[in-house]
Amino acid sequence: MCGIIGYAGKKVAAKVLINSLRRLEYRGYDSAGIAVLQDGSINFSKKAGKLHVLTDELKRFPLEGNIGAGHVRWATHGVPNEVNAHPHLDCTGKIAVVHNGIIENYQALKTMLIKEGHKFVSDTDTEVIPHLIEKYYKGYLLEAVRQAVKLLKGSYAICCLHASDRKRMVGARCDSPLIIGAGKNENFFASDAPAILDYTKNVIFLNNYEIAEISKNTIKIININGKTLSRKPTRIKWNISQAEKSGFKHFMLKEIFEQSNVVGDILKERLKNNKIHFEELAIKEKVFKGIKNMAIVACGTAYHAALTGKYMLEDLAEIPVWVDTSSEFRYRKPIVGKNTLVILISQSGETADTLHALREAKKRKAKTLAVCNVLGSSIAREADGVIYTHAGPEIAVASTKAYTAQLAILYLLTIYIGRIRGVISGKTKKKLLKEFKKIPRLLKLTLNDFKSNKNKIAEYAKNFRKYYLEKHNKSTFLYLARNINYPNALEGALKLKEISYITAEGYPAGEMKHGPIALIDENPWVVCIATKAKIYEKMLSNIQEIKARGGIIIAIATKGDKEIASQNVNYVVKVPEISELFSPILVAIPLQLLAYYVAREFGYDIDQPRNLAKSVTVE
Ligand code: F6R
Repeated sequence: MCGIIGYAGKKVAAKVLINSLRRLEYRGYDSAGIAVLQDGSINFSKKAGKLHVLTDELKRFPLEGNIGAGHVRWATHGVPNEVNAHPHLDCTGKIAVVHNGIIENYQALKTMLIKEGHKFVSDTDTEVIPHLIEKYYKGYLLEAVRQAVKLLKGSYAICCLHASDRKRMVGARCDSPLIIGAGKNENFFASDAPAILDYTKNVIFLNNYEIAEISKNTIKIININGKTLSRKPTRIKWNISQAEKSGFKHFMLKEIFEQSNVVGDILKERLKNNKIHFEELAIKEKVFKGIKNMAIVACGTAYHAALTGKYMLEDLAEIPVWVDTSSEFRYRKPIVGKNTLVILISQSGETADTLHALREAKKRKAKTLAVCNVLGSSIAREADGVIYTHAGPEIAVASTKAYTAQLAILYLLTIYIGRIRGVISGKTKKKLLKEFKKIPRLLKLTLNDFKSNKNKIAEYAKNFRKYYLEKHNKSTFLYLARNINYPNALEGALKLKEISYITAEGYPAGEMKHGPIALIDENPWVVCIATKAKIYEKMLSNIQEIKARGGIIIAIATKGDKEIASQNVNYVVKVPEISELFSPILVAIPLQLLAYYVAREFGYDIDQPRNLAKSVTVE
């Protein structure tokens, strides 16, 4: 949801800003712009369209200067055109602002400012910010920004420049992420760490209502009351190659293929001598002993991980768990209290709905635990405890490795809680961990089977496109599964929808007869997750019901399964054998790859699907 970057140093700011915006582009890609301070004035360039439109413009009309701010936009207020692109300026043209978030009271502020004589040119909420800063500017930008942000309601991360201050720029945040990158003879503001990994790994996480001023050699942070704060940088572990495509055509494909290492690393980090370690957890064992129930709250793919978590926790840790999407949880009266543990799952750690759900849970005195990927993110910092998935930066908008990392952490957490509560014996724990430890190798095997074309999913995607065109673009997808793989059916459908724009639904296979079976004729393609399971035979019955009505079936089955061959399904992909409980991690791979290859067949922009953005920091 918009990415912002600020730079103060010795290099040509425009080059640094563009390089960083490239790494932020996954946050928004409908327009882009930069502003730099040059010879005592603000020079800027902004363009509708993807970042390359702006970079082409800058090749023709380069901008000099060593201090500046940049923005990639995901439109909220105002269509994605050049006027609405950031930076936005005040009436004098001396103040430039880039912003991520939504100013909810912008209409009232705009009316007030217009009455005071300010002139607006865009339809954005952001434009009130430079005008407010103009109103309060008395020669000191930091103070003017402090005064201005006091009036803002909503969410913001901003970077601001003033033409009269050639050396410094100011940033501020409330509910949208903003970090400071502390470099050598250069400092940065950024929406997230990958944007500045080329330059520094030392970051300071700003808190809500903090305002900071950076120059090439100084960093000053104050709170909303003007009090100076002292903050030490944290060294982040991510490296730049993790934010590169490394020879893969798309980030999504790269991230899919990273999953065996991601899960392997989680095991290495979290398991020592068969003891589960969550160093950063900060929730005492006695809390886990005392809880009566749990809620897991998340959005999108993370919600599907949460649903899978329910199966694990209820089955193994024997504790009642309910799962909610964050946007529903936060607006109803969830029955949670001091005996409830609320787990918030979020890759970015910045999803607005999940952040507000967390605050709602805390207000109701529940204990809160965040499962996040991004270090120092808002959800990670505000929860009572955190477990990081450490999957490395996920750049593709469609989440893949973050999902399997969330599943891996949930398995370990389940065993951890089950042990503390005395419902998992030492022997069972050992058995479970033994099975879990097979996963990185089996993931590698699964991925290799696709790479070497043993599993011909790319071919099935090609066939689907042909079929889709023959049917005059009418074909759809249905994903069916049972038990712990049911959330995977939802996830498979979500993956396909978001990058292929093909209607897809996920259902528990047992629900078929209660409605969705009416959809079956020769039109939909039905993905049936039919790996070895307790109720495998019931899945086979569902397959027959679909066959009898002419549906085209892709079955995901277990290697060595002979029965599936006799079912007469149209296509089969096989995953290695593992116990049903752990199978969702392996089953996720063909689902992700199917979505990827279908999108590729249609020639869509896989890493940057339309209308979406990676980190949803607005409601
Ligand atoms: C789907 C996807 C989204 C996110 C959702 C939550 O591929 O990426 O559905 O899973 O927006 O995001 P986080 O996990 O950052 O809270």
